[in-house]
Amino acid sequence: MSGELAAAVVTVSDRTHRGEREDLSGPALVNAVEQAGGRVLSATVVPDERTEIERELRRLADDEAVPLILTTGGTGFAPRDVTPEATRNVLEREAPGLAEHARIATLPRTRFAVLSRGIAGIRRRTLIVNLPGSPKAAREMFEVLAPVLPHALAVLRDAAEDHPTS
Ligand code: MTE
Repeated sequence: MSGELAAAVVTVSDRTHRGEREDLSGPALVNAVEQAGGRVLSATVVPDERTEIERELRRLADDEAVPLILTTGGTGFAPRDVTPEATRNVLEREAPGLAEHARIATLPRTRFAVLSRGIAGIRRRTLIVNLPGSPKAAREMFEVLAPVLPHALAVLRDAAEDHPTS
């Protein structure tokens, strides 16, 4: 494995944001990142609102310049599941292979893997990956992606150093 894995975790959930439900998926993801040898830079919670999700993704990518943002939640079929749409609005380039791989590789464990509409892609020097909302699902998909993320982040970071964007 080359390069380091430093990530901001964003939980997308109305109920968690209102304080009606304990955040389980955010901490599960934090734990998974640390178990993979990575570092968690921040963990925040936003409601299932496109504008608020977009604002948080822009803040982390543009102001904090975090290498990786992992979102959990809001990728399903419920009317308020809009994380992929909000993410697409802030991406400059999509990286469909990551989401395809996460779905296909976890499919043998649950056919419901295909119900996550999560996407992945790049904004400036930040890679953004949507993961599903349950702790189990978020962890499963992260673990599948973890081996390829350090290389992806290293390429992004080196390219950013060659061609500074700011
Ligand atoms: N992916 C994996 N690997 N494991 C799972 O258990 N659950 C699915 C799916 N993806 C699941 C999964 C289910 S039941 C749903 S509803 C969708 O993710 C969307 O979840 P979200 O709306 O909480 O993001």
